[in-house]
Amino acid sequence: MLRLLQSLVASERGMRALGTLSPSLRFWHPDVRRDPYVHYARLREQGITRMRLFGGWVAARCADVERVLQEPAFSTNREAVPLMRLLDRATRDAPDFRSFAENNLLMIDGVRHRRLRGLVAKAFTPRRVEALRPHVEALVAELLERWAGRSELDVVRDLARPLPAIVIAELLGVPAGDRERFDAWSDALAELLDPLSARRGLDRPRRASAELADYLRGLLAERRRAPRDDLLSAMLEARQDGDTLEAGELVALASLLLAAGHETTTNLIGNAVLLLLRHPEQRKRLQDDRALLPSAIEECLRFEPPVQLTDRAVVEPVELRGVRLERGAIVMALLAAANRDPERFPDPERFDIGRRENRHLSFGLGGHFCLGASLARLEAQLALGALLERFPDFAGSADRVLWKRSIVLRGPLALPLRLH
Ligand code: HEM
Repeated sequence: MLRLLQSLVASERGMRALGTLSPSLRFWHPDVRRDPYVHYARLREQGITRMRLFGGWVAARCADVERVLQEPAFSTNREAVPLMRLLDRATRDAPDFRSFAENNLLMIDGVRHRRLRGLVAKAFTPRRVEALRPHVEALVAELLERWAGRSELDVVRDLARPLPAIVIAELLGVPAGDRERFDAWSDALAELLDPLSARRGLDRPRRASAELADYLRGLLAERRRAPRDDLLSAMLEARQDGDTLEAGELVALASLLLAAGHETTTNLIGNAVLLLLRHPEQRKRLQDDRALLPSAIEECLRFEPPVQLTDRAVVEPVELRGVRLERGAIVMALLAAANRDPERFPDPERFDIGRRENRHLSFGLGGHFCLGASLARLEAQLALGALLERFPDFAGSADRVLWKRSIVLRGPLALPLRLH
């Protein structure tokens, strides 16, 4: 679906066709971007909704979204979708781009997915993430210290954007001097998650994946000669039943970690600060009791999910809420709508940083559950905690927010704060 949308928005005719969709399905419209949740509520009421234009469906209720994410009839492998030929064309003559797509955990399923994910998980362990804690703490302090004595900072530009980029680069073992290039590649690859940016074409991500692959091949060769205590070395050494990752797989998976972990975490931090500005009583609660930080971040994830939706292809006929879906159909799983389903969350429109039983779907569910969830949580908790500590009186305008134009990734483009 996302790739199909990409091809549509890339053409004027496609945009006109998209304009014929009913208003609640025009996710990209600026009015919807400002507050998508009223539209999601309408879709939830409808159960599942047909998107005739794509031969697709939208699932918005929590129970349905959970089924779509967990049952084998719904697959991330979109080969059953005829329109995937479009992606095939885009990756022709671009071997690194093709390899990125072919080894992308988010686009494969079954045995191959389990094998690759199992091997990455051997290297990207909770212990490795937890070991980063003091380092991330120091990094956040350093980023904020630059603004000491000043009157204003932009949370997105000065904290939420640089932090995850530096953390992923350091985790993988990218030398500090190369971070700017790394950041630019990360930006370009993130466009693949955002159909609207495809209006500019796929050239930028295609070029970025080739340059990044070249760069990573060089770094991997160095680590082969002299392993270090970093994620790339650990991925090189990862072994499961005698099996290891091949060179192409290593490059593609390292690129995926970069693409999947940067902008998503930026959005979580930006959304969290915005939510505290919008809910001063909850901010006061958090300021008085820092032990609430972990549940506060979970509530920010539930209330303003940085990834609003994902999709699956139907690979065998299946019934969903009384509708028979045929092989080849696409189902959009609206994570952000599921997170406010009153059947699952009591008083779902209330932002409550102490909420218990918060089984939101913002990191997905099942076999494709976010591999970087604990890293994202760690970064967001430390960033928000440090901001409250260092600049307890920060203030800002929570009303006139400019949201990113993406329909998949939700976060503010900028968030200026007055510090005193
Ligand atoms: C707040 C930040 C983040 C959010 C909201 C988020 C969200 C998600 C979601 C919803 C999925 C599942 C998609 C699906 O089922 O179609 C996912 C998968 C994934 N995420 Fe994250 N993510 C975040 C941060 C990260 C970070 C920091 C990393 C790595 C450094 C990462 C790496 C991945 C990978 C590799 C997958 C694919 C897993 C698979 O398909 O097996 N994510 N993420």
